[in-house]
Amino acid sequence: MTNIPSVDFVGKVAFVTGAGSGIGRAAAVAFARAGAAVTAVDINQEGLQGTAVEIEGFGGRVLPRRCDVTKASDVKSALDLTIETFGRLDAAFNNAGIEQPGAMIADISEDLWDRVINVNLKSVFLCMKYEIEIMLRNGGGAIVNTSSGAGVLAIRQQSAYCASKFGVTAMSKAAALEYADRDIRVNAICPGIIDTPMIARYTGNTEEGRARIIKQEPVGRMGRPEEIAGTVLWLCSDAGGFVTGHAMVVDGGQTAGI
Ligand code: NAI
Repeated sequence: MTNIPSVDFVGKVAFVTGAGSGIGRAAAVAFARAGAAVTAVDINQEGLQGTAVEIEGFGGRVLPRRCDVTKASDVKSALDLTIETFGRLDAAFNNAGIEQPGAMIADISEDLWDRVINVNLKSVFLCMKYEIEIMLRNGGGAIVNTSSGAGVLAIRQQSAYCASKFGVTAMSKAAALEYADRDIRVNAICPGIIDTPMIARYTGNTEEGRARIIKQEPVGRMGRPEEIAGTVLWLCSDAGGFVTGHAMVVDGGQTAGI
């Protein structure tokens, strides 16, 4: 009988964006706990420092790097440094993102539109562009891009955010098709409502705000960032080796009824 492949990253290297907070931090920590050397990138250096301290606290290997994922030169140099430092790249989690303040489409400024699309969508293009170049030389790899429930269903007053996240879902599937025969797997993850600083900002961090949004969750609670991280690791691992081109909802049933 053949063994079921494991979720094990010993000797492997992972690259995580938005690693200074929330889901990205949980994923960087989880990759390091599973044995990977991790490049953790963010624009928030204080947040990154917190992530690095947590990983180093259990003896994990981490390279914290300031990187604005909307800038090609920042992304390329963070990935070049990953190769210089750790020698390879096996897994990438392109996760950095921002929320959109609720607004009807006619009231969205061009600046806000550009900011949401650049941070949430263009960044994923830039990251994949340079990651795939490396993975082709490596002989393969796995990429997970953070979409959202808003990347599979439309939400009022969230048109820029929805456009960015539907874009991430579509681009992930197209990339999966393009590189499937080169051993590069690409998937999107679509989290439900996850208890992170982003959601705290979105709800005003009040009991009423939290209760209002929790009503959307059939399970009656928000998800934990670690519950997204676990799925990301599985998707990037040998255990998820036959999964590519998938947009996986991890959302407590939020989208089950659609
Ligand atoms: P968060 O706000 O806690 O963390 C996002 C991180 O991305 C921050 O550390 C921030 O500094 C970083 N970031 C923002 N712009 C950046 C840039 N230009 N370059 C580099 N880093 C940048 O948010 P959270 O909740 O952890 O979100 C992570 C991802 O998950 C985002 O893409 C978000 O849209 C998505 N998401 C979150 C959900 C939630 O309920 N929290 C639900 C569905 C999707």
